[in-house]
Amino acid sequence: MYSFYTDEIIEEVRINNDIVDVVSEYVKLEKKGKDYFGLCPFHKEKTPSFSVVPGKQIFYCFGCGKGGNVVHFIMNAENLDFIESIKLLAERAKIQLPEGENDEDREKAKLKQEIIKVNTEAARFYFNILKSEKGQEAYQYFRKRGISDQTVRRFGLGYSSMEWSSLYEHLLDKGFGEEAIIKSGLVLPNKKGGYYDRFRGRVMFPIFDIRGNVIGFGGRVTDNSLPKYMNSPETPVYYKGRTLYAMNLAKNSGQKRIIIVEGYMDVISLHQCGIINTVASLGTALTESQGRILKKYAEEIIISYDADTAGQAATLRGLELLDDIGCNVKVLTIPEGKDPDEFIRKNGADAFNRLLDHAKTLLEYKAAVLTKQIDTTTAEGKLIFLNKISDLLVKVDNSFEREIYAKKLAKDYEISEDAIITELYKRSKPKANFRATAVNTQETVRRDIVKNTDKDEEKIIHDERMLLAITCTDNSVYRVIKGRMGAEDFINEHNRQIAGFIFERLDQNKGIVIAELLNVLNPEVAKDFARIVREECNCEDNCKAVLDIIKRIELFKLTQRQQQILKILSDKTQRSEGDVERLKQELNSIIIRKRSL
Ligand code: UTP
Ligand code: MN
Repeated sequence: MYSFYTDEIIEEVRINNDIVDVVSEYVKLEKKGKDYFGLCPFHKEKTPSFSVVPGKQIFYCFGCGKGGNVVHFIMNAENLDFIESIKLLAERAKIQLPEGENDEDREKAKLKQEIIKVNTEAARFYFNILKSEKGQEAYQYFRKRGISDQTVRRFGLGYSSMEWSSLYEHLLDKGFGEEAIIKSGLVLPNKKGGYYDRFRGRVMFPIFDIRGNVIGFGGRVTDNSLPKYMNSPETPVYYKGRTLYAMNLAKNSGQKRIIIVEGYMDVISLHQCGIINTVASLGTALTESQGRILKKYAEEIIISYDADTAGQAATLRGLELLDDIGCNVKVLTIPEGKDPDEFIRKNGADAFNRLLDHAKTLLEYKAAVLTKQIDTTTAEGKLIFLNKISDLLVKVDNSFEREIYAKKLAKDYEISEDAIITELYKRSKPKANFRATAVNTQETVRRDIVKNTDKDEEKIIHDERMLLAITCTDNSVYRVIKGRMGAEDFINEHNRQIAGFIFERLDQNKGIVIAELLNVLNPEVAKDFARIVREECNCEDNCKAVLDIIKRIELFKLTQRQQQILKILSDKTQRSEGDVERLKQELNSIIIRKRSL
């Protein structure tokens, strides 16, 4: 829609500007539950009605109705247009926008391109060494770890020889400029004013960005010396916290879930065994930026970190983070303290897939961790456990899910289900519900059967938006929509376009989140979507809500056609004998169809 920058770049800028961080620079925010509240910067008020939802990366003011994603916030706060706001946020997140207007921007963009070329050449260089005489030992190392030639090629694995500056010289020979070589992080200055190779005597793992550009490297020793791994430093093209190793491959897996593991070797082994929906966070703590990328591409995320204590802590942090930003997340624990690489090599893909089937939900994992910390054999311990588990349970949004958990926990840990339910009661607050239910709206439509007012049409347009908003906050409902309703079935022209955009993405197995949708909407419509998400999108059951809406849209269309037919039939000047029969038949089938809805 904004042809100046690609959707991809706009989205990259959005993802790397956390809305809570950005808004906090303007508004004093206070956390309540998962959301943040503060005094609205856009209208005068004394009690806070301005809210930020980190999980959905949107803001909305219940007072003045302003809302949108982080870009809209900047538009309003700084009084800028969309493009200017993107520029400001890109600067803030140190993202280089392409085809900058001024010379400085253009220079930066050129340097980035050049660094990627340097990296690509380096990857080729390391790969060729691995295949040569000098790389025989390294090649054997990969062989011993069960890596096939095909996998070596797919991941572009290589070897950096022991020589001090063979890569540096090679890059100079190839005609690359000093600045790009130095800024690539592949060489380091020596005492004599020259440069030497950062990676020497290591097997090399190129790191790709989501588009498949080589943006950095990891290098592992082939023995027990330390440090085990060395990685590229942050460079103008490589930001650790924003990269997920193998995401460029995993995003094409066509699967609804992504497994996140710790290391290079875990990813490579799993991919080799056909489990290509796997990415790695590369040993660092999962960041929000990575979390939001995962959320975009997967409906469910499975964390499979090492089972050691460091891994366990990282698992909990990762779980909390992903849960906070609204992901469905589970934990897969590898038995006997193995990492995924060791496990799959020893037990095969089938065994791994069986483990996947038993991945624990956040709650189950936390309960398991709790039982390790609390002695639940004593009455006192049981009580503490019951309290802690109820604190966790009450946060589960879906009542049905809550009930299933309560049952399961009661059984697993031998506490009475009644006790849990009583505790839940104590902790529960009344919650706003999805307003229009299927029943009463159908009734309304039926009552107004003769006169289809503009109001009904307004309602349907709103329902359509509601459906689109739910789809963006919970991509899994698309399964219910697909086959029942296409973009062309939307009544409102604008909604039809939006649906086209969303459905196309989901058809390609690319996820979409609400804040991303807001990028492409005009600010007025974006505001309306933010309001819907904030005020109405907390259905107990998203699939059911969507089915209800689809039904209502069909009913609306049938009613409209019915009225049209009745009008034609009552107007004697407008019809011929053949038409009457055909129209009456159609009317009949409409009535039958409506009854069945
Ligand atoms: P691990 O120590 O679990 O390594 O660290 P690994 O991937 O299982 O490697 P192998 O099987 O021993 O070869 C997990 C990840 O943490 C990062 C790397 O990204 C590694 O893949 N790491 C680890 C480092 O960056 N530096 C280190 O010294 C160690
Ligand atoms: Mn390992």
